[in-house]
Amino acid sequence: MSEAVAGLKGVVAGQTAICTVGREGNSLHYRGYSIEDMVGRACFEEIAYLLIYGELPNQATLAQYQNKLKQLRTLPTELKAVLKLIPENAHPMDVLKVGCAFLGTLEPEHSPEQQWDIADRLMALFPSMVMYWYQWHHLGREIDTNSDANGVAAHFLELLLQKKPEPMVLEAVDQSLILYAEHEFNASTFAARVTTATLTDFYSAMTSAIGTLRGPLHGGANEAAMALIECYDSPEKARVGLLDKLAHKEKIMGFGHAVYKIRDPRSDIIKGWAKKLGALRQDTVIYPVSEAIEQTMRSEKNMFPNLDFYSAAAYHFCQIPTPLFTPIFVFARIAGWSAHVIEQRHNNKIIRPGAEYTGPAPRNFVAIADR
Ligand SMILES: CC(C)(COP(=O)(O)OP(=O)(O)OC[C@H]1O[C@@H](n2cnc3c(N)ncnc32)[C@H](O)[C@@H]1OP(=O)(O)O)[C@@H](O)C(=O)NCCC(=O)NCCS
Repeated sequence: MSEAVAGLKGVVAGQTAICTVGREGNSLHYRGYSIEDMVGRACFEEIAYLLIYGELPNQATLAQYQNKLKQLRTLPTELKAVLKLIPENAHPMDVLKVGCAFLGTLEPEHSPEQQWDIADRLMALFPSMVMYWYQWHHLGREIDTNSDANGVAAHFLELLLQKKPEPMVLEAVDQSLILYAEHEFNASTFAARVTTATLTDFYSAMTSAIGTLRGPLHGGANEAAMALIECYDSPEKARVGLLDKLAHKEKIMGFGHAVYKIRDPRSDIIKGWAKKLGALRQDTVIYPVSEAIEQTMRSEKNMFPNLDFYSAAAYHFCQIPTPLFTPIFVFARIAGWSAHVIEQRHNNKIIRPGAEYTGPAPRNFVAIADR
């Protein structure tokens, strides 16, 4: 057996027709379309449809798809009861994990032909799940998760704010969902594919993916980035604080990437939104502090921000509570995860790599009475 590659970095672990990450100029493409081409010219559901169903929808197909998602926002009564039982101080990612697993017992997958409908159901229901639990526990109100809001971003924001969001906020969240929708063999998608490859059900794959995304080295980085930014009330304090953290070899969340080496193409786009939204809020602290952290990371470590860094400030300006940042990632990445589950099933082989053994050489077993 050959030597292990730490973190499987650079190892080609399978084939995909869904996405390329970090090719020429550190680009990102979904089914051949570059992220820069899609953002500003499409809504999230168009891109979710492209990922899950394989091609861009036309106007009529998109309207049909959005209408279908609207019809699927109702929480089953049994799921509402479970959501009420989840503790108030639970992390919303755990709410999604439990909600997803429980839905799998109420609306089980009996055959792979159901996979597209389950993907659509989860995409429609994830904002309902998390906001029903959040409003019940944090604001003491039982909300109706049905709404006529057009699109996942509008649905989520209306359930959160209990009113229509400002147009700029709506557009920013919708576009951020496109940025978060897919990223090839990242940790949560790979977990979903490994789970799928055992021929288990769709919900099991999604539950694996949500649990994997929760960690701060993956999706949880946007929440950790916000916590860092909020430590400082001026760019100068941020610079000094960061130098201290770097001197202590601390990892700064929202920086670096396993694949991109020069830049994360999603970062400039979300940074633009953070700047615009900061101006809308007349912010004089969060955005300047974020830029000071970015500049310090560049000058001290030659590192660039990834999508999670400026999405923190952008979501903060959208008045979204920090613990809901990573769930938004789920509302988007369900598109990529679903596409990968479908692709894995299409040409399945169990994923079972080998390991480089580092334990003791073969030795004699000693019975318990003689130990
Ligand atoms: C994304 C990440 C996991 C990629 O990991 P990776 O490619 O395996 O990079 P490594 O962990 O091998 O790091 C290489 C070096 O850069 C340093 N480094 C990497 N990311 C860093 C960060 N965010 N802050 C400070 N130093 C960092 C490492 O400490 C390491 O230094 P060393 O060689 O002196 O030990 C890593 O950059 C990270 O932990 N970033 C913060 C979490 C984050 O933002 N995640 C979201 C990703 S989209």
